[in-house]
Amino acid sequence: MQEHIEAYRKIFSGDPDMESVAPGRVNLIGEHTDYNGGYVLPAAIDRSVRVAFSPRGDNMLVIHAVDRGEVLKRAVGADFKRTGTWRDYVLGSLGVVLEKGLNPGGISATFSGDVPEGAGLSSSAALEVAFVQAFLKRAGAAWEPLEVIKAAQRAENRYVGVMCGIMDQYVSVFGEEDKAVLLDCSTLTHDMVPVRHEDVSIVVLDTDVKHDLGAAPYNERRASCEEAARVILGRKGLLREVLPQQLEANKARLGAINYRRARHVIMENERALRAVKALGEGNYRLFGSLMYASHNSLRDDFEVSCGELDTMVEAARMYFDEHADAGFGARMTGGGFGGCTVNLVVPGQEDEFMTAVLDTYGRKTGNNGRGWTFRPSQGARVSRIARSGKGTDPVR
Ligand code: GLA
Repeated sequence: MQEHIEAYRKIFSGDPDMESVAPGRVNLIGEHTDYNGGYVLPAAIDRSVRVAFSPRGDNMLVIHAVDRGEVLKRAVGADFKRTGTWRDYVLGSLGVVLEKGLNPGGISATFSGDVPEGAGLSSSAALEVAFVQAFLKRAGAAWEPLEVIKAAQRAENRYVGVMCGIMDQYVSVFGEEDKAVLLDCSTLTHDMVPVRHEDVSIVVLDTDVKHDLGAAPYNERRASCEEAARVILGRKGLLREVLPQQLEANKARLGAINYRRARHVIMENERALRAVKALGEGNYRLFGSLMYASHNSLRDDFEVSCGELDTMVEAARMYFDEHADAGFGARMTGGGFGGCTVNLVVPGQEDEFMTAVLDTYGRKTGNNGRGWTFRPSQGARVSRIARSGKGTDPVR
C-alpha cells in the first residue's frame, strides 16, 4: 500500500508532501440508471488509487505510474491530445482544473493502485478523483465535494471520451465504511444505507473478460435512453421522469430497441428503491431476487452483459439453489461487456462460494476467474505526509 511513497523517495530523492487517495467501487443495484437521473446503490471498496505528490520549482508535470513503470513528463499548460492510455485520465483531471482558471504549477508525483483494472470496479474514476484532488490541493483551491465529483466526471466525458454518468466519481468521494450510498442522480443528494457485515458479505467475482467501456457501446446506450425520453416526453428530458404506463403507451412509437432500453432503466429504478427497503429490513432474500431480475434485464433489455457474465451469475444461482444458507443473489456490476459479478453471500461462506463458482465458471468457459470479498469503505481523502507521521485533511 506504500509503493507510491517508496517509489517517490527513490525517484525524487526526498519525501513527498502529500498523498491523495480515492477508492474504486462496486455497484449493488441500479445499473445504467445514473445518466438517466435515476437511483444507484454503490459502495466504495477497500481498494484505491494512491498518489504521492509535491510541488516543483518549474512548471512541469513529472508523474510516474509505478505499477506500469511509465512516466508522463510535460509542461503544465501544454496542449492535450488523447492517447487512449492512463495519461488521458491524469491530463483530463489537470484539464478540468485549468479550465476553472486555477494553476496547480509543477508537480512531481508517483501513483499506484490496487483497484483491479478493466474489471468494472471504477479504477478510472478512482484515478480521476485522486488526481483532481491532488491538482486542486496544489492550486490552493478548496472545492465542495460535489464540485470535485463533477470535475472528475467531466475529465472522463471530455478528455477520455466516455459519456459516463456520475455514480463512480460520486461514491469514490462520498463512500463510508460499512455503508452503501443511495444516490438520487436527479437531485445529486444521497442517503447512507448500512450494509451489516455480520449479516452479508459482498463477494465480487471477475470473469477475466476485460471490461473495456470502449466509448462506443456505452455512448450508444446513453443516446438510446435520451432518444426514448425525448419521444415519450415530447421534449428533452430524462427517463427518470417516465412512468411505466407512459412507456407502455408509447411502445409503438419507440421502436423495439429503444423500448427495451427504456424499460430496463424504468424498472431498474423501481428495483433499486425496493432493494434499499429490503436491505433496511434485513430481507436479503428479496434483495437477492432483485439482483437476479436486474441481471436479466441488463442481459435481455439493455444488452450490456456477455456470455461469461451470464455463466458466472448462473453458477452463483445454482450454488445458492443447492446451498440455501450460503447466500442470496448475484448480478453483473458496472458498465458491463465483461468485468465482474457482485454476489451477496452469508458471512463465513465466502471462500467456499468463491471456489465453487469459479470452478464451475472455469469448466464452462475455460477462463480463470478470480474473486474478492470487499468491505464498504471510506471515500477519497488528501493527507499531508509528515516525516513524523501523517495528519489528515479529508476533502470533506
Ligand atoms: C459505468 C459508468 C457509470 C454507470 C455505470 C453503469 O461504470 O462510469 O456512470 O453508468 O457504468 O451503471
